[in-house]
Amino acid sequence: YLVPSRLQAGRFYALPQSPQLYKQILMVSGVDRYFQLARCLRDEDLRADRQPEHTQIDIEMSFVDESDLFRVAEDLMAHLFREISGIEIETPLPVIDYDEAMLRYGSDKPDLRIGLEITDCTGLFERSAFEAFASAVAAGGVVRGIRFAEGISWSKSRVKKLEEVARDAGAGGLAAVRVDAGGVESTIAKFLGPGEIDALLERFESGPGDPALILLAAGPRTVVEKALGALRLRLAGESGRAADGGFRFLWVNRFPLFLPAEGGGWEPAHHIFSMPLEEDLDLLDRDPGAVRGHLYDLVCNGTELGSGSIRIHRRELQERLFEVIGIGREEAERKFGFLLEAFEYGAPPHGGIAIGLDRLAMIIAGETSIRDVIAFPKTQSATSLMEGAPSEVEESLLRDLHIRVEDPGTGG
Ligand code: AMO
Repeated sequence: YLVPSRLQAGRFYALPQSPQLYKQILMVSGVDRYFQLARCLRDEDLRADRQPEHTQIDIEMSFVDESDLFRVAEDLMAHLFREISGIEIETPLPVIDYDEAMLRYGSDKPDLRIGLEITDCTGLFERSAFEAFASAVAAGGVVRGIRFAEGISWSKSRVKKLEEVARDAGAGGLAAVRVDAGGVESTIAKFLGPGEIDALLERFESGPGDPALILLAAGPRTVVEKALGALRLRLAGESGRAADGGFRFLWVNRFPLFLPAEGGGWEPAHHIFSMPLEEDLDLLDRDPGAVRGHLYDLVCNGTELGSGSIRIHRRELQERLFEVIGIGREEAERKFGFLLEAFEYGAPPHGGIAIGLDRLAMIIAGETSIRDVIAFPKTQSATSLMEGAPSEVEESLLRDLHIRVEDPGTGG
């Protein structure tokens, strides 16, 4: 959010999305531990777990690696759940890498209450007579699926409806394989040899004595991940799997540092101050999309509760990362000169995390919308219905702020 300066015509303050740079500068200045309940303001599209204003439990520490941060944050979680709800959270929490989360759950914030893990069976279809799958594999894609035992009693039309979930995610479709005492029934069965079917059943731990519905998707890896991630949540919703499962926390670590930007090039997956893995440094120039970072999320029941990273503390490396996202030396100097300069004075290695206080309240209260735990929440269109904000203001006020609104009627 930009706030016009009254005293300096034509200049604006940017309200902080988070105190990220301030807490880093504190570490560089020698304050080696920081903790704050920080108000953050973000002009982004709203969702059930997002508001324009939110509060973070914001933490930063010097001379730490991620395991130190994990301990601090998960001990805090365990304490809060014990004190507030009388619930014991078992620590240390499980840690899995981002790649593994995407493979097993099709999500970077897996809901562990659900089960229904995704199984890879790409290798089984390399030379398959089932053209749709074989060609996906030949094109460098994957074949993966979910074994859903309850699905065995579902009608064909109900199973068919699941295809929409896969299609919405960009997959060509969903192949259903029904396994019960009577054998295997599937539209793809006629394309598969007996050896292939046996291998498939073995991979999914299914068979005549172990009835199940196996749902398979093929295509580019990211599409299949998205499709099966969505399918997993849909199956859980329809079978009531998550209803009673308590609180299942985990850490997802080593997120990719960069995502493809809309107009080409790269943008930071989180923010641009996170430390790349040492072993991925040489990919920075060649293949930015493959660079992983000391970048982690705290996840509970399918919600991202917190996010943090070990930071870069060397000027030269920070400048290299800026370059990847198209920020040249001059722009870096103009926007982040204070940080780059600070790094030259012997900055300590440091890292931190921010936990969303409102989301935490939402989870503890058992709610599914953040609006239920905020006193005066904004609507989906970022409107405050009670006082009617945002609203038009008097011409004289605008003049004071050196602002001219061209078409107040449409907000243009
Ligand atoms: P990030 O942007 O991931 O990281 O935010 C950290 C946590 O804050 C919560 N959160 C929100 N809650 C409600 N509404 C929103 N619009 C919203 N945006 C974020 C989430 C999220 O996990 N400075 C970094 C943290 C760091 O690297 O230390 C940061 O702000 O729970």
